Amino acid sequence: MDYIPLSVPNMGAEERKLVDEAVDASWVSTGGPFVKQFEKVIADYVGMPDAVACASGTAALHLTMMEAGVKRDDLVIAPDLTFYATVNPIRYCGADPVFIDCDDSLCMDPQKLEDYCAKECELRGDELYEKASGRHVSAVVPVHVFGNLADMESINDIAAKYHLKVVEDAAESLGSRWTKGRYAGKHSGTVGDFGAFSFNGNKIVTTGGGGMCVSKEQKGADHMRHVSTQAKVDTLRFIHDEVGYNYRLTNLQSALGIGQMEKMDGFIETKKRNYELYQELGIELMQFSPNCAPNYWFYAYLAGDKRDLLIEELDKRGIGSRPIWELMHRLKPYVDCRAYRIEKAPKYHASVVNIPCSTNLTEDDVRYVAAAIKDIMG
Ligand SMILES: Cc1ncc(COP(=O)(O)O)c(C=O)c1O
Repeated sequence: MDYIPLSVPNMGAEERKLVDEAVDASWVSTGGPFVKQFEKVIADYVGMPDAVACASGTAALHLTMMEAGVKRDDLVIAPDLTFYATVNPIRYCGADPVFIDCDDSLCMDPQKLEDYCAKECELRGDELYEKASGRHVSAVVPVHVFGNLADMESINDIAAKYHLKVVEDAAESLGSRWTKGRYAGKHSGTVGDFGAFSFNGNKIVTTGGGGMCVSKEQKGADHMRHVSTQAKVDTLRFIHDEVGYNYRLTNLQSALGIGQMEKMDGFIETKKRNYELYQELGIELMQFSPNCAPNYWFYAYLAGDKRDLLIEELDKRGIGSRPIWELMHRLKPYVDCRAYRIEKAPKYHASVVNIPCSTNLTEDDVRYVAAAIKDIMG
């Protein structure tokens, strides 16, 4: 059996044809027709009027946070259990994160979010301030971990009550949507004020590296596009009207993305089928929320106190796996930041192992991985 990686891209002749077209036309950089076309493909897919293509999910998060009005010395509420790139853009804006625990969905616990706002903060007019530090709390960044949906009904209600902007980190959840409740039919990333997606190499569709941001208001999308293209107002004389960023996705990458999106439904089907097959084979995986149709991006297995053993042993058998991210409040740049009642995240951190979930994983691969896990776990 060949090495079975954790999560790899799945690309073929269709993508190559589009990339060749970009190369043949010499449109390889941020100009060229595929960028706008890819924006339209994503906007249509997630049901938004517009989407802004950018260089990475991290860039998308930075653009959305700037657009949300996050300012120097603000506080921004973020999950403790997430990938590092959710949090760094808060610092790019000169603000600091406040870390909130997860619940059993692995996403931000709305009850603890409410408690933090109600008990640790106070409203002054229509702005929220943390009592202990006197600092303005301007936004909250829920993350849809592994493609599972955070409880956005509660989070949006809390954000409205405390005047917080909501930036959804939907880097991992392109394709996940609600099937019940207030947001039935809506896609992740589209129910907050802003949403950010990633097309990194391990995401459900990839452009090599890339991201996309969406905004509830068109002027937000227009402004993010402007800032992402060096804030240039004139095509000839290099006139720029504010600080700009080189954050635009390239035409080459967009070509790849368009090809990938044609396969999106099939990718989700495969991920769902393999997720179900693991369970049929006796590998109990963490569940996705019952009110959503997830994209099944990553599968999470709880290995208890055998996390490291399982990862090591799988590796010996040619199977890729990984632990969940180190908790944000334990990382050097953030050890001094406020971590509010972190209780569940360390437990999940100690136990979660992600197991192979690529969209080109075969039934035989799944059977091999399942047998190995059973054997190792005893
Ligand atoms: C939760 C989360 N946020 C942000 C990012 C950043 O995206 P990118 O790698 O495209 O910059 C990722 C993925 O890498 C992610 O998983």
